Amino acid sequence: MSGTSADGIDVAVVQVLGRGFHARFELLGHGHFAYPQDVRQAVLRAMNSERAGVAELSRLNFLLGELYAEAIRKAQRGAGKAKLDLVGCHGQTIYHQGEAAAYLGKQIACTWQIGEGAAIAARLGVPVVSDFRPADVAAGGKGAPLVPFLDYLIFRDRRAGRIVQNIGGIANLTAIPAGAKPQDVVAFDTGPGNMVLDQLMQLLFQKPYDRDGSVARQGTILQPLLEELLRAPYFRRRPPKTSGREEFGREYVDALLRRHSRAAKADLIATATALTAQSIARALKTFVLPGGKYRDYIVSGGGSRNKTLMQMLGRETAKLGLRLRHSDDFGVPSQAKEAVAFALLAYQTWHRQPGNIPSATGAQRLAVLGKISYA
Ligand SMILES: Nc1ncnc2c1ncn2[C@@H]1O[C@H](COP(=O)(O)OP(=O)(O)O)[C@@H](O)[C@H]1O
Ligand SMILES: [Mg+2]
Repeated sequence: MSGTSADGIDVAVVQVLGRGFHARFELLGHGHFAYPQDVRQAVLRAMNSERAGVAELSRLNFLLGELYAEAIRKAQRGAGKAKLDLVGCHGQTIYHQGEAAAYLGKQIACTWQIGEGAAIAARLGVPVVSDFRPADVAAGGKGAPLVPFLDYLIFRDRRAGRIVQNIGGIANLTAIPAGAKPQDVVAFDTGPGNMVLDQLMQLLFQKPYDRDGSVARQGTILQPLLEELLRAPYFRRRPPKTSGREEFGREYVDALLRRHSRAAKADLIATATALTAQSIARALKTFVLPGGKYRDYIVSGGGSRNKTLMQMLGRETAKLGLRLRHSDDFGVPSQAKEAVAFALLAYQTWHRQPGNIPSATGAQRLAVLGKISYA
């Protein structure tokens, strides 16, 4: 798995037993492999549709395939040299437009992940499932989120309603009412997770992110700015909805800095941190809590290591009567969760079973996700 933060590669080595929502799995090992600095720069360039060229995209597609294969090898060694049968590779999203828009006479939604599956299959000698999202888009969905498959599998509960929140570059949640059927699951991107924050840290402090939230802790939230940011149309749109760098990337942050060039740097970081916490809280209030009773609020992803963000989120969710917990408490290490999801989705595909949850993506039907490269 490589998320929109473009921080690197997360690998989970998983033993799977059974299919569908009755599957059981054991996590044999996992690892995070940061992209080398120049690769990260190339990935971020590739995500900039004005600047990326097809030659570079094509090279990067194969390069990432090589890097994924190396990362998988290392994770496999770390997992007691577990025997590999199948690889699921999400790849790196370089463009995502979940909402259909007019294009040359047709309504087109699209999504594009790179990291060549054929290269991974050739290096590792096992089949690879990649390109999970297009099948959902082709079925009328937004191609995201796909993690609700795993969320429903592990967190559904007969008595407790649970909300599962991942905070990566983008923050997304899966709400599973008590005793829910798959079609009762509500899932959507709440907005920025670390994306705005990381970009500001890079521009203002030349750091990739606010480690442990220590800069935000020293700053003061700029309330008028926060209110202004929370007025963005994305937050008002009803789910299902997806978001990405197209909304909250470089252009968004550049515009923000142009308007508030005199603000203290730490205050901007505190405000961007509050934007993540508040946009989540408002999404819960508006789109989730009116639809059912919930008890647990379970966080995962890199943002769950930002202590200032977690404090803000803890306060907000307590006000809403939710109990904040970490996915680690449920036996799924926060960092590995999304990678585990794509291992299980690959296993579904290998058996020609669907992996999307239509109520989460907005698809008109279930779809078998991905493309298979044979070794
Ligand atoms: N110790 C930490 N303190 C604060 N933020 C962190 C820490 N570790 C990771 N992060 C944040 O998490 C991000 C990576 O999260 P991740 O879940 O991998 O997101 P994605 O799925 O978008 O790649 C980093 O870019 C950073 O913003
Ligand atoms: Mg990541």
